[in-house]
Parts: sequence; structure tokens; C-alpha cells
Amino acid sequence: MIVSFLTEQGGVGKTSLVFNLGWYLATQGKKVLLVDLDPQGGNLSRLLGVSDLDERPGVVDIIREPDKYNFTNTVIKVNDYLSFVPANEYAREIPDVYKSKGEDEKCLKTMLDKVKRKYDFIFIDTSPAPSDAHILSLVASDSLIIPLLPDVKSIDATQNVIDTYEAVKQAYNKKLEILGLVYNFYDNRPNISRVVQEALAVSYNKKKIRFTETKIPRNVSLTNAWAVKTGVTESYPRSKGAQSYIELSKELFGI
Ligand SMILES: Nc1ncnc2c1ncn2[C@@H]1O[C@H](COP(=O)(O)OP(=O)(O)O)[C@@H](O)[C@H]1O
Ligand SMILES: [Mg+2]
Repeated sequence: MIVSFLTEQGGVGKTSLVFNLGWYLATQGKKVLLVDLDPQGGNLSRLLGVSDLDERPGVVDIIREPDKYNFTNTVIKVNDYLSFVPANEYAREIPDVYKSKGEDEKCLKTMLDKVKRKYDFIFIDTSPAPSDAHILSLVASDSLIIPLLPDVKSIDATQNVIDTYEAVKQAYNKKLEILGLVYNFYDNRPNISRVVQEALAVSYNKKKIRFTETKIPRNVSLTNAWAVKTGVTESYPRSKGAQSYIELSKELFGI
């Protein structure tokens, strides 16, 4: 299963979800590949312990030089179950490279499909800035997870992703599904967050786009897990953050 983690807002938890869900599923014996498409500082890549990012080939190199690079020889193994393809700042060239080579929107899909059967899950982390890389990612994916915050900024960000999702679904990928909208940094108390949630629930229930029951609370264990570069379910297994990730994995994947 290939899943894009996407929204047009930074700091909402795309990378956290990819990292912590991927890590957890790998500890449950699933083969997981994380693909970093975010040029911004290569967050996920650093989180997984890569320091020489500028020398490492990533997805942009696979698109640019497919005779030399592919989703097999660019993979970095974290352990027997978890692997990833890193990104550095050159990932921002993905839209230009695929266009200048005359590739179509299916180029990432074609490349990922070659390795898909080796993995139970392939998770794609994306940048918040709207980009054709989002299109490539959605065309390549079976489904989409949209993280959001219970605040007003998330209303537009979420709607923009859903517009992109609908366009991609119609033009290229009929089977693309939204697995869920996932609240992160969740706190039900402030009035504003209830107002936002109600507004979003009304507009998306009509479209049968669902919010996950599981909401990820604001929890320091999730910040600390980054510092120790280990998924929260392993580094702080008894924390609220870890428990919410286990619930989310059960809800989304049955694992
Ligand atoms: N639920 C949470 N509680 C506390 N800190 C969090 C939580 N989710 C994410 N973070 C932290 O917030 C920051 C931004 O999250 P990140 O996953 O990088 O967002 P994005 O990828 O959408 O930009 C990171 O430092 C991360 O560790
Ligand atoms: Mg990120």
C-alpha cells in the first residue's frame, strides 16, 4: 500500500506521522519504505540519521537518471524492516526535472510500482508548499492521509489538498482514497478548536470524507522522540503520544 502524507501547511505533523507510524509498523514486522520528497532541510532524512544528505541520491536523481538510480539502489536501511529514500535540497527540482525530461505525471508511480511488492507499506512525506511533486505523489499512491490542526489555518490548507486530491483522482488515479483526516496537536478545550472542528465536520461529512476517531494529542514525548531519532512507540512506549499512535495504526491499518 502506498500512502501520501500531504497538506499545504507546515508544522502539522506530516513528517511525525510518516516517521512514527512507519517505525511502529516496522516493529510489528511489516516491511516499510519511507520516501522523502521534502526539500526543506530534509527533516525525515535527518531524523533517520543521515548527515551526508548532499552526497546521497534521492527521488530527484531517480527521475533525472533512471539508468543509474532507482528505488532499490538509493534505499538506506534503518533495520531489517524499515528503509527509506532520503531527500536533500535538490528535491525541489523534481517538478522541473520530470517536465524537462518529458515525463508524465505517472513517472513516480512507474518507478515505485517496480518495488511495491517488496514492501507492506510505502509512505511518502511531502513538503507543505504546493508543488507538482504533490501530484506525482498522489498519482503514485493508493491513499492519502491529511494531518490538520484544530485551528483556522487548517481550514484552507485542508480544502486545498482535497481540491488537489479530487483533481488527481479524476484525471489520473480513480482508485485514490482519503484514508483519513487526522487531528494532531489535539486539544478540545479552546472554543476556537471546537468551532473549527464543527465547521470541517459539516463540510466533509457531506462528501463522505472521514476524520479518524484517533486524535494525536500535543505531547512532549513526540518532540523527544525526534531528539533520540527513534519512533515514539519504542522510545516512550507508555506516553500518551505513543498510545495514540498505536490506536491510530489500529484504526487505519488494523495493526
Ligand atoms: N502531537 C505532537 N505533540 C508535540 N510535538 C509534536 C506533535 N506532532 C509533531 N510535533 C513536533 O512538531 C514539529 C513539527 O512537526 P512535523 O511532523 O515536522 O510537521 P510537518 O512535517 O507537517 O511540517 C516537530 O518538531 C515535531 O516533533
Ligand atoms: Mg515535514
